[in-house]
Amino acid sequence: MKGTRASRSTKGERPLHHGALDQEADGRTTPATRSGHRSGHAPATMRAVVQNGYGPPEVLVLSASELARLLDRNVFGRKGPRVRTRGTDFVGTVEAVGGNVGVWRPGDEVFGEADATWAEYVVVAADRIAEVPTRLASQEAAALPLAGTTALACLEPVGADPGAKVLINGASGGVGTLAIQIARSRGCHVTAVCSRRNHDQARRLGADQVVDYRVDDFCATEDRYDVVLDLVGNRSLRALRRLVRPSGTLVLSGGGTPGSGRVVGALGLLVRAQLVARTPGPRILVPVAKPNTQRLQELRSLVEAGRLSPVVDRVYDLDRSHDAVGYVEREHPRGKVLIAVPGKGAPA
Ligand SMILES: NC(=O)c1ccc[n+]([C@@H]2O[C@H](COP(=O)([O-])OP(=O)(O)OC[C@H]3O[C@@H](n4cnc5c(N)ncnc54)[C@H](OP(=O)(O)O)[C@@H]3O)[C@@H](O)[C@H]2O)c1
Repeated sequence: MKGTRASRSTKGERPLHHGALDQEADGRTTPATRSGHRSGHAPATMRAVVQNGYGPPEVLVLSASELARLLDRNVFGRKGPRVRTRGTDFVGTVEAVGGNVGVWRPGDEVFGEADATWAEYVVVAADRIAEVPTRLASQEAAALPLAGTTALACLEPVGADPGAKVLINGASGGVGTLAIQIARSRGCHVTAVCSRRNHDQARRLGADQVVDYRVDDFCATEDRYDVVLDLVGNRSLRALRRLVRPSGTLVLSGGGTPGSGRVVGALGLLVRAQLVARTPGPRILVPVAKPNTQRLQELRSLVEAGRLSPVVDRVYDLDRSHDAVGYVEREHPRGKVLIAVPGKGAPA
């Protein structure tokens, strides 16, 4: 992907690239893309943000990387060394496709999820991309894959039940801002829990009610909800489950908050949830997002229908990726932070 990546939790990353098309173990071949050029040939080396060790954001270094190394699964094999280039989400232009790839062609503008996307080129599986929505500035589409498919997975219990009451804890971040809109598109009544400075944004995205977690304890309310979506992971299971109607669902997708003193973040909460879920009471769900073409197309349809629009806090250039990570670590960005590959031109 040229142009833009987005980065972690879901805040960020991405690109596509060229070259030999990769034959996956299960026979799928991999389209390779890059932005702006319909040539099909890419240079032997490219620039990528590489992490050689653990530490502060400065361990992320932009360096020239051989394309072959990226394609050589032995280096980046599932059981082999961990992927040294960060990033998962991306938007970009297909550069070349493998012999078995029927749906995509060089020049196609796509968004999706892959490994090692903070780079000028990336390899991506053909069933993990979809056509870029036409209603968005292409960069913005990079904000959708992981956050959007997480929001879809988390709101599955809502189904198409208009009028369902949904509470979203962590409603101003990458997943929360999309979850508000998706729940509204299904006719739900939405209560958004986030800091005061994000209340206007939450209302603009469709929230009916807003709660400032710094002032009010949303778990102390007498209200009851059909779905409680926790995207933070800093409240007890008992307090969260109490908010859910007996026939409702508690959805846990929070990784915990920095400084909570918990070494494993919200892992304890998620493990306890698996046990408590077997006891009488509202259902408990711990979804794991799996971006694929079908889910990405669902997001694309919502965007094209004018019912979903990603919130982008700011965009950094690829060579400032460490600043992007520093900003996400220090501050509470609204929605997503994106990383752009300068000079290569995002899809038209
Ligand atoms: N299940 C999956 O497959 C999956 C996939 C992706 C992400 N996730 C998880 O989903 C969660 C949300 O991801 P994200 O990208 O949306 O995160 P994010 O962008 O960092 O958003 C964090 C949200 O949490 C709120 N928040 C921060 N500190 C808080 C506190 N102390 N008390 C209450 N609320 C607080 C923020 O509100 P303010 O900004 O208003 O303070 C913001 O709304 C993460 O934990 C991530 O690990 C799960």
